[in-house]
Amino acid sequence: MKSYDLCVVGCGYVGLVTGAALAELGHRIVCVDSDKAKIRALRAGRCPIYEPGLAPMLRRNRKAGRLVFTHSIAEGVNYRGRRALVVFIAVGTPPRPDGSADLFFVEAVAAEIAKAMKGYTVIVDKSTVPVETGEWVRKTIDRVNRGRVPYDVVSNPEFLAEGSAVEDTLHPDRIVIGVSSPRAEQILREVYAPIRAPVLVTDLKSAELIKHASNSFLATKISFINAVSRLCEAVGADVELVAKGMGLDRRIGSRVLRAGLGFGGFCFPKDLEAFHWISRQKGYDFKLLETVSEINDTQKDWVLRKVEGELWNLEGKRVAVLGLAFKPNTDDLRFAPSLDIIARLKERRVKVAAFDPVAAPKAKKLLKGVEFARDPYAAAKGADCLVVATEWPQFMKLDFSRIHSLMRTPVILDGRNCLDAAALRKLGFVVRQVGRPG
Ligand code: UDX
Repeated sequence: MKSYDLCVVGCGYVGLVTGAALAELGHRIVCVDSDKAKIRALRAGRCPIYEPGLAPMLRRNRKAGRLVFTHSIAEGVNYRGRRALVVFIAVGTPPRPDGSADLFFVEAVAAEIAKAMKGYTVIVDKSTVPVETGEWVRKTIDRVNRGRVPYDVVSNPEFLAEGSAVEDTLHPDRIVIGVSSPRAEQILREVYAPIRAPVLVTDLKSAELIKHASNSFLATKISFINAVSRLCEAVGADVELVAKGMGLDRRIGSRVLRAGLGFGGFCFPKDLEAFHWISRQKGYDFKLLETVSEINDTQKDWVLRKVEGELWNLEGKRVAVLGLAFKPNTDDLRFAPSLDIIARLKERRVKVAAFDPVAAPKAKKLLKGVEFARDPYAAAKGADCLVVATEWPQFMKLDFSRIHSLMRTPVILDGRNCLDAAALRKLGFVVRQVGRPG
């Protein structure tokens, strides 16, 4: 296998996992981030995000000398005289108020790379960006480079999901390479050669669209089943059985078909908006995406509706919220449904006690007037209602008899349909699940 000198700009979820995984494949990687404190932490061996398997992978590859960190793009592109053949752009593309993706960082990084490159370089866009960004990156590089050094621009979107990012990166369903130069295609194929996955080579714009279209499609699947769950509740059917029956059709598939409190995280909500925005810009109003977002926003009303249905007046009542992260196995709270739900409960003067096995320290900085419990039992003590907002596996193994004895009113709202409702009812709980009878 050929090993290369590579540079990854951006040490967020995508950049850090990509850098670590490429080092694991045997390449020499320089990871760059403008946040000096983050670089200091990484150099000191601390992993700034919670992601299963990432910390040991960083450690292993740092030790082997295949992974170094710097805050300077110029240094990253030419680290100690070693020229990076490929530079990955993995910086954030945060949402602007109008829903479009803010590409300020992508442009700034592209210009810096253009300044620093000393020989043929493949510049790869890994960040999720709207279609035609590659064209803009090319124009930006031309403006700075002025034909000095040959280069190619490639779109190589990342499909990793948080919580399984390392696994997803090393064992992806596919590798998409949007490229028009055979030279750059060959290099990218060699970079990923140790990974066994189908490689789909496309033009630049199609690759960019694959990423937005995939995330929007998955979000649509979730909103679809959540809409079905509302109908299930209205007629007394069971969305779990409906999803099972639908999922057995291999054309539909059972994955990403779980009803619940809706999707959160930094990808689905913002990518949906950005995809809708760019489609409008290009003269097609992709209205379906708006409905998908609307279903997702209103899905969170379920909790308030059910709490009111069980407890009548909310003022002064105590609600325990188990799970704050937008999904299990991450400490990420961005667009987490729990935040919205807690805000609405607080508006109604409910006393909220919260617990999350990993995300609590981050949540403390965001949520004021919330009691953070040291464990689920402390959260449940004296509560009138317990809401499960994230399906952490440990919640399924709790001692519910103990929880029953601790709560003031034994009501459980399982917003992720992850608990054994029948067993809980036997213990004397009132249990409500999303789109399920009972
Ligand atoms: C997602 C995509 O899966 C990934 O390919 C892309 O690169 C980034 O966006 P991520 O946001 O990390 O990854 O999480 P994912 O596991 O897809 O879940 C997103 C949200 O949807 C979570 O809030 C989850 O709880 C919710 N979800 C997921 C459902 O409500 N039902 C489901 O069936 C699946």
